[in-house]
Amino acid sequence: MRIISHVDELSRTLEAARRDGRSIGFVPTMGFLHAGHRALMAQAKRACDLVVVSIFVNPLQFGVNEDLAGYPRDFESDIAACTAEGVEIVFHPSVEEMYPTPMRTVVTVTGLTDRLCGASRPTHFAGVATVVAKLFGMVGPCDAFFGKKDYQQVAVVKRLVRDLSLPVNVVECPTVREDDGLAMSSRNTYLDVPARQNALALSRSLFALVDSIGAGERNRLQIESDLVQSLGSSQGVTIDYAEVLTGDDLTITESIEVGREYVAAVAARVGAARLIDNVSFTLDPSGKLLADLGALRDGLPFVRS
Ligand code: PAF
Repeated sequence: MRIISHVDELSRTLEAARRDGRSIGFVPTMGFLHAGHRALMAQAKRACDLVVVSIFVNPLQFGVNEDLAGYPRDFESDIAACTAEGVEIVFHPSVEEMYPTPMRTVVTVTGLTDRLCGASRPTHFAGVATVVAKLFGMVGPCDAFFGKKDYQQVAVVKRLVRDLSLPVNVVECPTVREDDGLAMSSRNTYLDVPARQNALALSRSLFALVDSIGAGERNRLQIESDLVQSLGSSQGVTIDYAEVLTGDDLTITESIEVGREYVAAVAARVGAARLIDNVSFTLDPSGKLLADLGALRDGLPFVRS
């Protein structure tokens, strides 16, 4: 495995690989890699000839009072994870390499970023879209793998690719969960033992929502207010948001309509961490509920015990 820290070297190496007829799978990360990232790498490895992982904690996507300085980092263990997953290139640039001159260009995806995390983190998605656009420019034509735990991020990246006609195929991968349902996140490391237990309220309330739709509830407002009620009454949890939106453009409909993807998304402060989670679902034309609850570490669909 090769560790590359310069943009020119990365672009030249990947260009040569493409000339040799090799397809490129790209997994952008901020490091502190966990089983969720490893699932993205494994999926990239199955689909593509060469897998490149970027490890870069992007200052642009952190607000002034957010956890940039304390964001967890462990480069040695990240390298071990990439090696174990058969990654061929790790791109690990410095901040100066990524942003050699002050940025005068910012990529903003409008509309999709008004709600959910965009409402409480107003500069976050411009930071994500800008760095992802830069990384796509550096990597070149590729399949890029993103986890659905960051559902809004995936929606933003898909739209960015479409609007700017970038030669990238965005592959959405399921949220990876611990056996008890907690969505994997680098920020889970901030949870002490009681907070780790309290954090299960996020997935529990989302699974209860899926049950209520399965039982026939179709009124979006009712579904959302039940979600707020169940999450808000959980011990040690302070809600940032709990919303049910259309999956394609993250807007509101009055009821759950057949044939459309929806996402129920939550963010909450639990102990020292701000955590997010979501489930997506569709009612097929016969009214049958198809819900994506995520996957386990081994890639099998998550099933509640
Ligand atoms: O999801 C992340 O880890 C980051 O937002 C990303 C996509 C690597 C951009 O910095």
